[in-house]
Amino acid sequence: MILVTGGTGLVGSHLLYHLCLQNDAIRAIYRTDSSLEKVKNVFSYNTDDTTLFDKIEWFLADITDVPAMIPAFFDVKHVYHCAAFISFNPKDYRQMRKVNIHGTAIIVNLCVDAKIDKLCFVSSIAAVGNSLNSNITTEEDEWNKELDNSGYSITKFGAEMEVWRASQEDIDVVIVNPGVILGSGFWNAGSGKLFSQVYNGFQFYTEGVTGFVSVQDVVKPMILLMNSTVKNERFILVSENKSFKEIFFLIADGFGKKRPSIKIKPWQTNIFWRVAWLISKITGKEPLISKYSAKSAHSISEYSSEKIQNTLNFKFENIEKSIIDICKNYPKYQV
Ligand SMILES: NC(=O)c1ccc[n+]([C@@H]2O[C@H](COP(=O)([O-])OP(=O)(O)OC[C@H]3O[C@@H](n4cnc5c(N)ncnc54)[C@H](OP(=O)(O)O)[C@@H]3O)[C@@H](O)[C@H]2O)c1
Repeated sequence: MILVTGGTGLVGSHLLYHLCLQNDAIRAIYRTDSSLEKVKNVFSYNTDDTTLFDKIEWFLADITDVPAMIPAFFDVKHVYHCAAFISFNPKDYRQMRKVNIHGTAIIVNLCVDAKIDKLCFVSSIAAVGNSLNSNITTEEDEWNKELDNSGYSITKFGAEMEVWRASQEDIDVVIVNPGVILGSGFWNAGSGKLFSQVYNGFQFYTEGVTGFVSVQDVVKPMILLMNSTVKNERFILVSENKSFKEIFFLIADGFGKKRPSIKIKPWQTNIFWRVAWLISKITGKEPLISKYSAKSAHSISEYSSEKIQNTLNFKFENIEKSIIDICKNYPKYQV
């Protein structure tokens, strides 16, 4: 039996589709019925065969609820832990610690208790440090707790520590550290917003650089790693390092829309996140941009995926092709 946490999210739903192609015994954690529709939607991008989705045994639980989670591990051999709370809003820090660090500790304890064979954890490039010797970051670059890290980064690093503990307790583990993940579905959350904003005529761009990867190129290596003898290693998953400007332009081209034309400078974002913070304090609404998302919009961070390419002989799809394919799935584009 394979257990997937976060199966109703971007990574988890695409992972479930690929797992269902090859396996029959798949259990996935969910919290609300409405989230299952999102998974069905992701399956529908790939197939008309509804029997694939029906293979999944859905298990209602919150990963931080130990008694609810215990039965989910019955007969389980492989665990893919994708569930996480992603936010750059400082007010979410406590909840992020609870879900990302404490929740992962619970998953690890249950994996040890159930004597599973292997655990795959979806971490992030946010839990990898910047290179001290070159411009390109690799898996060897240690995360530095002395820096001004975002709450998300702190909790993903904390979660990795829990996963390394599993490796000390005789569970084989693999960790993947994806860059910004681009994929179909979830258009109003996370990186999906890049697509909906550009489609709706967003005019601004920044020139910060980071690693991007398609969701297919995240879930495929995850499955390959779990079915291999590789263990107790982590792997950066980045198909290409690109600027936000390049990504916005590619998305606009993919939709046949006008490219964003107004460049935002760092000092402008610095004012903007402070104003957004003030407005959110007054209105109680989510800030449009936070200090850390403002920072990442301008910082230049490049990543190497040589390790996964050499270990699995894996080839990433180029990001331009991934973006064109994702644009085709955008709901309004199809109308
Ligand atoms: N998206 C990116 O660009 C990106 C980049 C690098 C790494 N990652 C990592 O990749 C993983 C998956 O991210 P994603 O983009 O798929 O996120 P997502 O779309 O926000 O999905 C998060 C998933 O976690 C579940 N979840 C959250 N809190 C939970 C809880 N307390 N109990 C049970 N389930 C819970 C959500 O369930 P509900 O549907 O019930 O909310 C959802 O299924 C995360 O670990 C994230 O840190 C993401």
